[in-house]
Amino acid sequence: MLAVCRIYGTGARSALEIESIYHYHSGLNSTGRHHPGEPFVPLCKKENRPMKVIAILLLASSVAFTQAAQAEGNAADGAVIGYSCLGCHGIESYHNAYPSYHVPRLGGQKRAYVEHALRAYRDGSRKHPTMAAQGGSLSDSDIENIGAWLEQFGTATDAVTIESVAGIDAATACVACHGEAGIGVVPQPPTLSGQHQDYLKVALQQYREGSRSGTVMSAFAATLTDEDIEAITHYYASRPGVFTPATKN
Ligand code: HEC
Ligand code: HEC
Repeated sequence: MLAVCRIYGTGARSALEIESIYHYHSGLNSTGRHHPGEPFVPLCKKENRPMKVIAILLLASSVAFTQAAQAEGNAADGAVIGYSCLGCHGIESYHNAYPSYHVPRLGGQKRAYVEHALRAYRDGSRKHPTMAAQGGSLSDSDIENIGAWLEQFGTATDAVTIESVAGIDAATACVACHGEAGIGVVPQPPTLSGQHQDYLKVALQQYREGSRSGTVMSAFAATLTDEDIEAITHYYASRPGVFTPATKN
């Protein structure tokens, strides 16, 4: 719990990133009463809130966002465009060439995250030559259709709690966003459970070294040691969660 407060309080930048992600408008005190305008980070720093309260805060902020209408998208059209994607994402053993790591599993991944990732590849804020080529020419409606299509596979949830990560100290900071609270957060933190371990490792290393940036994750990965990354990714990868969609679909 101390680690979380330390991360949240590491400076204006991480606080700002978190706020810009969640547009946190109102504070809640420990009894859940509203204190509009009370800033999120000082609340944590000042009163040293336990992790659970932080999770509740994030959950509360997410409730408002789940109400925001999501573009519909047409799953049938998405399946047509998505067929070519399965040439890589539909093959369980498929690897990125260099550095070598598994192509991420997309089955069950949260729709808002998939759409967010595709837009980031398209506008260049997330850099990856293959995916820039694959996603670079997709229109907004293509992206929404792909989101609708992937959602049909069923959304996997990260039913990860503070109790279930007991023993992996560094993972307690992740639960508030990637655990149950993450289900409703927009842009939704991706489901980590069930993802290939080598892919998760590369993602965390990239956040840590800054080559995958512009997101709240840079702040959370910054303090992780190699041992933390090994333990956390092993934990998530060995749980049920996202999966490789069948090529037939
Ligand atoms: C030639 C192989 C290949 C093809 C074809 C391909 N991808 Fe990818 N995709 C990758 C690789 C490799 C990554 C990991 C890139 C990275 O590390 O950022 C990736 C990452 C992604 C991600 C991010 C997943 C995450 O967990 O962050 C999404 C979403 C995605 N691809 C969607 C698609 C869609 C939609 C298509 C079809 C339009 C597609 N991909 C076609 C190889 C491919
Ligand atoms: C404040 C919310 C928040 C917290 C806390 C958080 N994350 Fe994230 N995480 C996100 C968001 C949002 C993204 C998507 C960012 C992007 O598009 O690159 C993400 C992305 C990721 C990814 C990339 C997954 C993929 O499919 O590409 C990994 C791995 C990850 N987080 C691991 C962690 C770990 C490990 C921790 C704890 C040390 C953690 N996160 C804490 C919000 C959070």
